Amino acid sequence: GITRHYDFNVQMANVTRLCGTKSIVTVNGQFPGPELIAREGDRVHVRVTNHVAHNMSIHWHGIRQLQTGWADGPAYVTQCPIQTGQTYVYKFTVTGQRGTLWWHAHISWFRATVYGAIVILPKLGVPYPFPAPHEEVPVIFGEWWAADTEDIMSKALKVGGAPNISDAYTINGLPGPLYNCSAKDTFKLKVTPGKTYLLRLINAALNDELFFSVANHTLTVVEVDAVYVKPFTVKTLVISPGMTTNVLLTTKPVYPNANFYMAAAPYSVIRPGTYDNTTVAGILEYHKPGSPSTPSLDKTLPLFKPTLPFFNDTKFVTSFTTKLLSLASKQYPAAVQQSVDRRFFFTIGLGTLPCPKNMTCQGPNGTQFAAAVNNVSLVLPSMALLQSHFTGLSRGVYASNFPAMPLSPFNYTGTPPNNTHVATGTRLLSLPYNTSVELVMQDTSVLGIESHPLHLHGYNFFVVGQGFGNYDPTNDPAKFNLVDPVERNTVGVPAGGWVAIRFLADNPGVWFMHCHLEVHTTWGLRMAWAVQDGTKPNEKLLPPPSDMPKC
Ligand code: C2O
Repeated sequence: GITRHYDFNVQMANVTRLCGTKSIVTVNGQFPGPELIAREGDRVHVRVTNHVAHNMSIHWHGIRQLQTGWADGPAYVTQCPIQTGQTYVYKFTVTGQRGTLWWHAHISWFRATVYGAIVILPKLGVPYPFPAPHEEVPVIFGEWWAADTEDIMSKALKVGGAPNISDAYTINGLPGPLYNCSAKDTFKLKVTPGKTYLLRLINAALNDELFFSVANHTLTVVEVDAVYVKPFTVKTLVISPGMTTNVLLTTKPVYPNANFYMAAAPYSVIRPGTYDNTTVAGILEYHKPGSPSTPSLDKTLPLFKPTLPFFNDTKFVTSFTTKLLSLASKQYPAAVQQSVDRRFFFTIGLGTLPCPKNMTCQGPNGTQFAAAVNNVSLVLPSMALLQSHFTGLSRGVYASNFPAMPLSPFNYTGTPPNNTHVATGTRLLSLPYNTSVELVMQDTSVLGIESHPLHLHGYNFFVVGQGFGNYDPTNDPAKFNLVDPVERNTVGVPAGGWVAIRFLADNPGVWFMHCHLEVHTTWGLRMAWAVQDGTKPNEKLLPPPSDMPKC
């Protein structure tokens, strides 16, 4: 592989959407940010310089970061933030991955505007395990907020109530024609008949899982989270924050005399959504034979709209996620852990804390909303967890006693389930090198059931099982798929259900795991694993780079 160099200048830029202009944090003045391209096996050096008045850090979401945990990015987990005027060069190698990932700010809610695609091409000369596409196009979903997202975040923390929802969903930063004052800000995918396009879908939204569909066209899913899957074809798919999905879209064989909307709208069991005011649309625009190569939309043509599932259609979500299976071919085997060294059961969900004296809280019975894993709401320290882990100076920074089971008994009894106890703390779960881990995550919530996209840093895992109601440790494991389960870095804990994953702890360091709904992360739905070094040199975390930011 070669070394690819990128310069990321974090700077403010004025951006106008929905008839309002806002100064936002960007990389290089671009929104969405620049695309990072590498080939499998390449080294990547990204020189990040912070020119804004806030602390910053960037995460390379889904990059394994083997031995290079210092480049992972979450603030106060693997690094101190990059302060104003400072530079930090993230250095990592893209090992054993190919497909679509993405990068985003990993401090406060700055990822609202600081994000972009990571495209990992296969090694030179290695073809895709599907027909070569005519063109490849990143399609990044996001959310646009008219208000300042840092204000919204601090309100979510201080008032202890649910935050405002965004003003629009976006495709590649554009809300599209269904919002007021937005028709000119529409993503257009220009296509020609009879060709296949690879859409690299990324959900970079802060707080919403999304359905996506293209009117009168089908989507063939070929890869998720930079791992190939057994191809399957759908009209609509679901993608949660943190997830990436590559799909093939084949255009009509002849010019159709029509244009087609593509659209995304939220999946949420607790929040209503309706087609017209919470739908982002882009346009699939066919190139008319004989017209100039960059046509503008022919308004005389009919425009077809896709039908999306109802906002709380969990059945649809389940039927989609159960179709996801590893390709498991000779060339791309599924190396599922057949035996397990440690089993863990985590409850995932919202709960409540007593309302602090000087606040009015909006949680049930005047409590403050909180969120937790096994009833522990992680409090981040004022130095990086990885630094204290590496230097052995963990005393007073964190305790290695994260509970392997919930602190309070959990029984899923319907709506709402009954475990709302939350304790704050900085507790890590320590794992010896190469531990084979099985983790069952069970949804629970004070508000009612809710789905949570859980993201694990530093690893891919296999999704060996999922179900609804209480996880049954006696009978459910017999149904696990240990042959071709999907391998990924972000998985939905089903609303009112559970999911079981397996991974091999072969990457030493401190690895964050959290709900990728930003409001839940903020409320504490986050924990971290401390994976110990192995004995061989290539089993150890490398020393920190000399330009490592200081707190
Ligand atoms: Cu994409 Cu810790 O996040």
